[in-house]
Amino acid sequence: MSARPRVLISRSAPPAGTDPIKAVCDVWVWPEEDPIPAEEFKKRAAGVTAIFCHPPDEINKDLLDAAGPSLKVVGTMSVGLEHIDLAECRRRGIKVGHTPNVLNEAVAELTIALLLSAARRLKEGYACQNGEETWENALYLCGYEVSGSTIGIVGLGRIGMAVATRLKSFNVAKFLYSGNSQKSYAEEVNAEFVSFDELLECSDFIIACCSINAYNRGLFDKAAFKKMKKSAIFINVSRGVLVNHDDLIEALSSGEIYGAGLDVTEPEPLPPDSPLYSLKNCLVTPHLGSASLKSRNGMASLTARNILAGIRDEDLPSAATY
Ligand code: DGY
Repeated sequence: MSARPRVLISRSAPPAGTDPIKAVCDVWVWPEEDPIPAEEFKKRAAGVTAIFCHPPDEINKDLLDAAGPSLKVVGTMSVGLEHIDLAECRRRGIKVGHTPNVLNEAVAELTIALLLSAARRLKEGYACQNGEETWENALYLCGYEVSGSTIGIVGLGRIGMAVATRLKSFNVAKFLYSGNSQKSYAEEVNAEFVSFDELLECSDFIIACCSINAYNRGLFDKAAFKKMKKSAIFINVSRGVLVNHDDLIEALSSGEIYGAGLDVTEPEPLPPDSPLYSLKNCLVTPHLGSASLKSRNGMASLTARNILAGIRDEDLPSAATY
């Protein structure tokens, strides 16, 4: 029998993540494109030393029971930890690693791409390829500029700051932010800490960058959209569960808000008949925030380092703090 540690990889990952692990461990990788079914996940987890996973592959109590006492470390190739039962991991002494920082730039760039696309109505503009649009008058497809605007960031963490520092060069008039606490580094972009309601009422662009917790599911609901300006553009790069999508559809269809750009939805992917796809003032991308080669390779490599450190009973280079 092999003395090498066994590692389960719950979906294919770049070689920057898999190669260093394969060099010293016996690795099994879920070979399909569809997510690994829960029963198969449990079966494959039995007796492994480490699990390399991605959201939304759930690391819950059942899975941890199936893995058994051999499991030392879970490394998720994500910043988000909402798919992992952290309390159970802690109780069992299982280390958990994740991948913050290496994706900040990629997510910030995608956020700005969505924001500009929604502001300048690029979805309608691209429709000209189908002969659907004609240059009708001087206000044809006029949208809004970022220049001179007020940007509201919900959750001024690493990604929120990366977005703000880049948007600064667009001559933004003012940055507002809301969240659990005031951040000293907000000074770097001159961002003002305000209540969530004030942010909704005063911002031209509202960008959700916060992490998900027990209190913010459904934070963007009918009441929140009602408080926004009619010209407001809402961008979500956090998680879909932050938003009540029925309320968002209503706000976009009725003109309660001007537009939206969503890189995250609930569920993912959205059903093909979701109105969010057909609304002309809503852009949807399939969770592409960190999808640059540099960022995904960085995430994979950091996950491998977390896994290998956990196997060796060392401190993880990027342990989840919880
Ligand atoms: C993350 O890292 O949490 C991104 O959203 C990708 O899942």
